Amino acid sequence: MDGFDVCLKGTNDYKDIAGSDIVIVTAGLPRKPGMSRDDLIATNSKIMTAVAEGIKANAPNAFVIVISNPLDAMVTLCQRITGFPHHRVVGQAGVLDSARFAAFIAWELGVSVRDVTAVTLGGHGDDMVPLVRYTSVCGVPVMELLEQKYGAAKAAEVMAAMVKRTRGAGGEVVALLKTGSAFYSPASSAIAMAESFLKDSKRVLPTCVYLNGEFGVKGLYVGVPVVIGAGGAEKILQLKLNAEEQAMMDKSVAAVRDLVATLK
Ligand code: 2OP
Repeated sequence: MDGFDVCLKGTNDYKDIAGSDIVIVTAGLPRKPGMSRDDLIATNSKIMTAVAEGIKANAPNAFVIVISNPLDAMVTLCQRITGFPHHRVVGQAGVLDSARFAAFIAWELGVSVRDVTAVTLGGHGDDMVPLVRYTSVCGVPVMELLEQKYGAAKAAEVMAAMVKRTRGAGGEVVALLKTGSAFYSPASSAIAMAESFLKDSKRVLPTCVYLNGEFGVKGLYVGVPVVIGAGGAEKILQLKLNAEEQAMMDKSVAAVRDLVATLK
């Protein structure tokens, strides 16, 4: 009873996406308990190849948002096969990872998640980088609030546990579901990106985009804050990272680079 007027069509024929403004790709196998996202690369590369060819042939002007895993590698493959400009092929991961981080902080502090601004960077893998220093509650740095509650030492421990849970949250869902991975949260995260594109809202959303020197990364798709508008991935927002954050980013980027190197 949500009252949305929609026209919905299920199909197996790529011709039905003809002329689409936007294509959201979820195709691919999900993980089984104990698997990493990277374990899916062989099977999902084949699926992504077929999907990307279908998009290229039928929706050559679309903005493409990939959700399939391993995310950073699948976005890379989709862009290579479609040949679309990089700003028109992006991946959804950071909106979800940041939303999870924000939820854990909201629960810990007893505040609304709407007032938590959380940022994650890097690949959508176990080395992702929840950026504590840029995370705030109504503008107040999150560590200030945790330190008021617990004192410095315990606050650091509580934050470390939330960072760890954020990195493992996708796996936590897989372990609970046993026969699938998270579906609602990745979908609603992709819709936030789609809306920003379709309405030209220019929201700043953590997005897997092609970096060409930004954050010290060249020629690789990785998650960073991006302005999403009618032009697709319109602008990358650069953050100054301290040495510790840069080291975490470098580790995450290296993991993505190694995985992407295995693409055929
Ligand atoms: C997740 O993190 C499926 O990668 C997705 O839940």
